[in-house]
Amino acid sequence: MQAATAQVKFEHRPNANPMPQAEREKAFENLGFGTLFSDHMAVVRWSADKGWHSAEITARAPFPVDPASAVLHYAQEIFEGMKAYRTADDKVVLFRPEQNARRFGASAERMAMPVLPEDIFMQAVEELVRIDSAWIPKGEGSLYLRPFMFAAETFLGVRPAREYVFCVIASPVGPYFKGGAKAVTLWVTETYTRAAQGGTGAAKCGGNYAASLIAQAEAVGHGCDQVVFLDAAEHRWVEELGGMNVFFVMNDGSLVTPPLTGTILPGITRDSLITLARDNGITVNERPYSFDEWKADAASGKLREAFACGTAAVVAGIGTVRHAGGEFKIGNGETGFLTEKLRNDLVGIQRGKASDKHAWVHPL
Ligand code: COI
Repeated sequence: MQAATAQVKFEHRPNANPMPQAEREKAFENLGFGTLFSDHMAVVRWSADKGWHSAEITARAPFPVDPASAVLHYAQEIFEGMKAYRTADDKVVLFRPEQNARRFGASAERMAMPVLPEDIFMQAVEELVRIDSAWIPKGEGSLYLRPFMFAAETFLGVRPAREYVFCVIASPVGPYFKGGAKAVTLWVTETYTRAAQGGTGAAKCGGNYAASLIAQAEAVGHGCDQVVFLDAAEHRWVEELGGMNVFFVMNDGSLVTPPLTGTILPGITRDSLITLARDNGITVNERPYSFDEWKADAASGKLREAFACGTAAVVAGIGTVRHAGGEFKIGNGETGFLTEKLRNDLVGIQRGKASDKHAWVHPL
């Protein structure tokens, strides 16, 4: 494993043909998720003989990838999701970026990849956001940052690669769900599972998302926005959505969310919401919650609200849940009061409108 701290010097090779401002602002008028990209990217390479080297901020461009690159065959790849925000008073900030750096290291360890020193992760993200700060939309949008690393060695043997590329790209985004703030509809898959004990469920690796796609397609086929996975051993316990954690708001005002037992992603939004809820005197129970309990609680009214959360999705109310045996609504099928409050509290901190008592905001 590499040292947790180190610095490299990033060579700057600015894009000679950046998108003209008028074109960029036009593109900002209809922002969705993940289709528009900024002018630059940060790149750092690693090889077994040189360690971390060749750090640069350069024009965003395709990578030449050898057809025998290890990532194309054995999927040794990890990523992060984080955002840069423009605050109400026009400052540029990140939100808990050191948590992403730490989780990236944990994912790397699980995938037998070199651990990128957290300082280099931070430098790459900060320098990219600085050079592309004009790409951070004003108002509700944000600049989604996608740090990732892949095995770049030209080699077909099955062992950890000896060469990697770490990269950060940036994408101005609006709402993740097409319906905006409207409560989402979920599909509970009883066919597919996401992760088993001892597997890669807690790592943010591309393979987890590849494995979720067929289940997500099943969800879309049933007219739903997102899929919900149950645990792999008993097909009984609610785990997480395709790319988000899930919370339940009970009638006594408490929250329930599945515990981090190694099969679900330790979401930074999840962790922040737990803290914000506890700050508000709300009891949060990180405990297993079964699909049977979910159905029964929705029917009896014991369950008042439910929401999904993640960096991309922020906090999204869950209105309707479909499954092979039918469907049920949560509350009146719309985003609930506490869901809305927690979302506003979180966004308020990210946008510099609310007090940041946990020092989560990282100004640039
Ligand atoms: C995120 O919320 O940042 C994610 O990584 C989820 C998804 C877009 C893959």
